[in-house]
Amino acid sequence: MKMSLMRFPALFAAVLCALPVAAGTAPDEKMDEFIDDLMSKMTIEEKVGQITLVTYDKSFMTGATQSKGVEKKIAEGKIGGVFNVRTLEDKINIQKLAVEQTRLGIPLMFGLDVIHGYRTIWPVPLALSCSWDMDLIERTARAAADEATSEGIDWTYSPMVDLVRDPRWGRVAESSGEDPWLGSRIAEAMVRGYQGESLDDPQSMMACVKHFALYGAGEGGRDYDMVDMSLNRMYQEYLPPYKAAVDAGAGSIMSSFNDINGVPATANKWLLTDLLRGEWGFDGFTVSDYTSVGELTEHGLGNLAEVSSRALKAGLDMDMVSEGVMKNLDYCLENGLLTEADIDVACRRILEAKYKLGLFEDPYLRLGAEPVDRAKYRSLALEAARKSIVLLKNDHDVLPLKKDTKVALVGPLADTKWELMGTWAGAAAMADEGVSIKSGISRYTSSMIHTSGAPITDNPGLARMIGVNIERSGDPDSLIAEAVSAAEKSDVVVAVLGENAKMSGESSSMTWIGLQPTQRRLLEALVATGKDVVLVLLNGRPMTLEWEDAHCAAIVDAWAPGLQGGNAVADVLFGEYNPSGRLSMTFPRNVGQVPIYYSMKSTGRPHIPFRKYRTGYIDCPQDPLYPFGYGLSYSTVDYSDMTASYDAGDKTVKASVKVTNVSDRAVTETVQLYVRDVVASVTRPMKELKGFRQVELGPGESRTVSFDVPVSELGFWTPDLQYVVETGKFVVEIGPDSQRTLSSEIEYTDVVSCQAVPFK
Ligand code: BGC
Repeated sequence: MKMSLMRFPALFAAVLCALPVAAGTAPDEKMDEFIDDLMSKMTIEEKVGQITLVTYDKSFMTGATQSKGVEKKIAEGKIGGVFNVRTLEDKINIQKLAVEQTRLGIPLMFGLDVIHGYRTIWPVPLALSCSWDMDLIERTARAAADEATSEGIDWTYSPMVDLVRDPRWGRVAESSGEDPWLGSRIAEAMVRGYQGESLDDPQSMMACVKHFALYGAGEGGRDYDMVDMSLNRMYQEYLPPYKAAVDAGAGSIMSSFNDINGVPATANKWLLTDLLRGEWGFDGFTVSDYTSVGELTEHGLGNLAEVSSRALKAGLDMDMVSEGVMKNLDYCLENGLLTEADIDVACRRILEAKYKLGLFEDPYLRLGAEPVDRAKYRSLALEAARKSIVLLKNDHDVLPLKKDTKVALVGPLADTKWELMGTWAGAAAMADEGVSIKSGISRYTSSMIHTSGAPITDNPGLARMIGVNIERSGDPDSLIAEAVSAAEKSDVVVAVLGENAKMSGESSSMTWIGLQPTQRRLLEALVATGKDVVLVLLNGRPMTLEWEDAHCAAIVDAWAPGLQGGNAVADVLFGEYNPSGRLSMTFPRNVGQVPIYYSMKSTGRPHIPFRKYRTGYIDCPQDPLYPFGYGLSYSTVDYSDMTASYDAGDKTVKASVKVTNVSDRAVTETVQLYVRDVVASVTRPMKELKGFRQVELGPGESRTVSFDVPVSELGFWTPDLQYVVETGKFVVEIGPDSQRTLSSEIEYTDVVSCQAVPFK
């Protein structure tokens, strides 16, 4: 049910007189006329109010400080948007303040980090990206929008499209991994899902692409750290996902905390104006990250008045939490730091967003809906969790387990619902409705002995940061003895180990990305029993698992699988679901290999074969433990009969491969296509993903999978930032992951002009 304006007569009058729309005017013109009229009535303070975004002081925090006195400021017309308001009732009340008590009745816009689901929690984004299923990803975003808008959310701080090649960074869990092409497809799918057909649909919310830009490339994997990167690399690798989200119509974009080549993103005019608006044609609005305007003072750029003005002039429209201009307006104007015209530009963009969201027509558009019946999304949560799980190892077909196998279920994460939710679920997860792995497995076997086996960590500093009470975890030796005894009485050990929810996410960077020593000791004791050990990993990042790979019979990477995680893991373990996930990020052998990713360049001294005077390490193999694109299933799929050719007519590379399921189990196969530019005027990556197809193959079934790759997609950015496609030889590779591929060489000779589609 939509709440009627007639229930708020004062507001109805205010809104009605604010909609002077001439019949027959085009939508943009209508909007412009409406906003011109509104702005002509606004004081400069009211305009600054529109560019001011605050948290709600009666709710939860997702940053280091909380806004104060919010209701009073709203009633004074000094606030444009509010985020982190927990209840619908609070949202309705403060919206009333804005529309009934302020002079012009301009509605507020409500934001929230709806990152991987709202009430129904899907796997963390890194996990979901391993599904390689764009339709699924779009459906999860759409469902999240349905739930969130039914509780008054207009605007989500998602998708996070930061490319990441350093698993030490805690926020890798929120990313789509290491690849620009896959990341771009996911960015588009999420924007489509959130924003739906039209932003003024009550079930649509505005996407906010973040964190612009290069936030995932911080030095040393440390959060918020600086980035120093060539423009060429940015254009080629790091910027495409943001551009894809912008092209998909994202309404807003959030600046990142980091410094880019000496200028923090929040005040970076080249980034926020020249590139974003000038080159890309973005016409939405920009918002800072949490207090990142104020933090420009810590970057050493001046006092709050100076940095806020600089950010605004650079193209930053909305200030999240710092209230920088609001607190210093007179000073900024008197000292010539800002003019009213500067403020007008930003204010107009916020008003346009509210207009597009339908808020001027009905400020209660998303505040009066019927609650969503969450049960309808349970099966989507299960589908998402199943499809995100990646089977990393499966020796002598230890998996799938037979029904009623005697299982020793061991590990500190085996009987938790909460830790399965991962980062960014705190705001909204209904963890009580979740399913633990123990409860999932109990659907398949009644002979299960469960024991925790070990604390997550015994590092006191880490334990404090991740909310683990070491004292309460029990005596480590007794816990291991108990686990070993359970293993000895069972047919197989299922060890649920890895990271709890707080070990990844914001400001959770780690220098050690292997299992915590307490957990490794447990695993060693379990392996020593001689029983097959199936390691089920919960994690928000790629981990280093060389020992585990060498000693466990099977490894199932479940990530943080969300609300239905326990059922999904059990379905995979017992073969109800044939695992289909593929890594969207390389797993290094050890942290010293970081950064390691499949699309590295060869150097003049390639490491294959590795010997003296070649690039690489002398104490470790050069390849990763698990490459990008990798993942097993319970079926075997053969690849054969690959073809590739260049079609000069429609300027595409045409390639195909025959895939045959040589097992008796149906499977979803993700067929991946990579291209290497063999000779070019600049150095090029060893290979780049340029396409993939997911096909269902019944037992024994064969299919020919075809790809059409426009040659315009095989171009690159030159050092002076021209996008070119050079003629010559290319190697096309097709396979189940980035390493095991069939290949074929093609050559094209006609010159193709590609300026029109540089970011595809
Ligand atoms: C995070 C953003 C988030 C914002 C609002 C910041 O700390 O970096 O990703 O959207 O808080 O909660």
